[in-house]
This record gives sequence, C-alpha cells and structure tokens, in this order.
Amino acid sequence: MTLLITGASGFIGRHVCAQLTHHHDILAVLRQPDTQLPALRQQVNALGGQGERLRAVQGDLDLPGLGLPEDLAPPQAIIHLGARFAWELDRETAHRTNVAGSLAVAELARRHGSRLVFISGFMLENREHLQRLGITSDDPEQVDWQAVYRRAGGYEASKLEAAIRVRALAAASNLDLVEVQPATVAGHSHTGTLDTAQPLFALLDNLASGRLAMAPGSPQHWLPLVAVDHLAALIAVAATGDTVPQRLLALDPDTPNLQGLLAIAANTLGRRAPQRHLPIPVLAALLRLPGMPRLMNTWPEALHFIQPTRFDTASTDAFLAQQGLTRPAMEAVIAASARWYQQYRRDQPDLYPA
Ligand SMILES: NC(=O)c1ccc[n+]([C@@H]2O[C@H](COP(=O)([O-])OP(=O)(O)OC[C@H]3O[C@@H](n4cnc5c(N)ncnc54)[C@H](OP(=O)(O)O)[C@@H]3O)[C@@H](O)[C@H]2O)c1
Repeated sequence: MTLLITGASGFIGRHVCAQLTHHHDILAVLRQPDTQLPALRQQVNALGGQGERLRAVQGDLDLPGLGLPEDLAPPQAIIHLGARFAWELDRETAHRTNVAGSLAVAELARRHGSRLVFISGFMLENREHLQRLGITSDDPEQVDWQAVYRRAGGYEASKLEAAIRVRALAAASNLDLVEVQPATVAGHSHTGTLDTAQPLFALLDNLASGRLAMAPGSPQHWLPLVAVDHLAALIAVAATGDTVPQRLLALDPDTPNLQGLLAIAANTLGRRAPQRHLPIPVLAALLRLPGMPRLMNTWPEALHFIQPTRFDTASTDAFLAQQGLTRPAMEAVIAASARWYQQYRRDQPDLYPA
C-alpha cells in the first residue's frame, strides 16, 4: 500500500511514520526533503520504526497544488497532519496553510481516488463551543468566519474552517474521508517523549516553574488528552483498515480533571499541586493585560481547550476494540510525560539554571 503523509516531520507525524513503516512504504511531503528526510529517518528508527521505508517528495501546503510534481503516483491513502500550529496566528497566514492547504490535499485525494485521513481536533465535537463561536451550520458558506477567527484565534478557527470545508468537499465529491479528532496530545505512553512545542509541555513547564499557583477553571474543567503513540496507532489503522468510521474521536474519557492532571504531574516533578481554582473568565481577563501572556506563558486561545464538556466516544471505542487497540492508562501517561519533561529540564542547564 502506498501512503502519502503531510506533517511527517511534526510530533505526531514522526510517531505515525514509526508505526506505519513496520508494514508499509511511506512518501512524506516535506518542504526541505534534503535536510528533513535524513533527520526524520533517524527519528523514526529511534522510535522503533524502519526509516529506510520512508521516501520524500518536495511540497508545501502554502503553494498552489502543494507544489507537488504532476506525475505523482496515486497513493491509496493520504494522511494529512501538516498544519501551522501556534498561538496568535493572523487569519491570513492560518487560512493559507491550514484551510487552503487542507483543501488542496483533499483535492489531491479526490483526483487520485485515495482515502483521506484528515486530522482535525476534538473541539469539533463540542457543540456548545461551536455555537458560542457562531458555527451553527454544516454549510461553510453560512458561517461568519471573520467572527469565528476573532473569537477563537487563528489556529483554532482555521482548524474548524478546514474541517467544515473538507467535509463539504467530501460530501459533494464522494471522497473517502476519515476525520481523526485528537485531544491535546500527551507524551509516549512508555517513554513520555513529548516535544517542546506541544501545549502539554508548556503546561508542565508552567507547573515546574511555579507559574501555576491555581488550577484554571473549576473541578468540572478538564483538558482531554491522548497519548501520542495511541493516537499514531489509531491514525495508522484509519489509513489502512478496510471499514473505518467517518469520524474517530481520539480522546481518553478517563483523563482526570485539570486539577487531578496537575496533581499527578506535580507529584512527579516534586512540586506542590495547585489546591484552589482560578475561574476561566478571571484568568482570561488577566491575560488581556499587556505582557501577561508572555509572563504567564499562557495564551488566551489555549484556554478554550480547558472546558467542562464531556464527549461521547462510543463509536471510536467500538472501532478500537475491533482493531485490538487499547488506550494506555492516562494517569501513567501523564506521569511518564512529566518524567520526560524533568529529564529534558536536567539536560538543559542553560535554559533551566538550578
Ligand atoms: N498536538 C496536539 O495537541 C494536537 C491536537 C489536536 C490536533 N492536532 C493536529 O495534528 C496535526 C499535527 O500536529 P503536531 O502536534 O504534530 O504539529 P507539529 O509538531 O507542529 O507539526 C506540524 C507539521 O506540519 C508541517 N507544516 C507546517 N507548515 C507546513 C507547510 N506550509 N507545508 C508543509 N508542511 C507544513 C510541519 O513541517 P516542518 O517540519 O517543515 O515545519 C510539521 O511537519 C495538526 O494538524 C494539528 O492541528 C494536534
């Protein structure tokens, strides 16, 4: 089976490549294949995959037609992970890479008759949140996107817009679309391996550096998590399985509430866990003060993902059972992630003087 993947060099992408190269050859769309492919092969080998089964083609989500050669062999499936993932993205930049880029990938899948495994996010299943943002229709033309970008920020708004537009394209063209909706990604379930650009890394860093005296939200608030290796396994079977549900919610419903998550991490890090709560509107107001987001290492947009809504994972649970996949125990994943963070900190004495 030939599989094409975007975002292979990213945190999730590396783990997906490590899992898929056990049985498949992969063609990665990379912006700078000459330098990125050797590094990616090494990372994939270190994660237990077979780096030599990876090849690369130069491409860029920001370019018309992705900048890919015309004579690309039709892949059986395309896994689309590539995205600009950052806070405070302006609308134009976020739209170009995350929306126009996703539509170009979807168009490529349609043209080749490939399955598209499209990675969106768990907030697409939070209906109250979508309504608050002004997304009340499945028809992308009925949504005031300018207002959505203003309320949600560039990253989240562009991910929502991309998903809704890709779904509309799939419905109009018979595209075989599987949407994987990940929660915030935690480290590897055994090694805890994270990536410094990941939101969970920032949370652990804030906790370890004494910037989290209180837990944001209330006892009902939680930050749903998924272990990166479990997510990668789910994406792999979504790409290669025969019958796959159209949407897979990659979220561990047993993730503890935020205070519980912080207590597990604090225990591993030898810090005091926050005992009291800071209501989200109060924190959001604080973060509107100039300079505050940088000082607190917290961006207002990130607060949306800490919320009280619970999610129905029944259809994903059934698919996991059918594929013989089980979710790793989330409390152990959080502790492993915190241990990895602590080791990273020890290895960087210049960044973290004792
Ligand atoms: N991590 C999470 O908590 C989380 C949760 C829900 C959904 N997701 C989604 O999962 C996907 C992967 O996330 P991640 O955490 O692995 O992100 P990441 O580590 O930031 O990786 C992003 C990837 O996208 C690529 N990329 C960015 N701009 C590109 C462009 N113009 N053309 C081609 N490739 C481009 C990057 O390539 P370079 O190496 O060249 O920069 C990199 O491989 C994203 O779609 C994200 O929205 C992530």
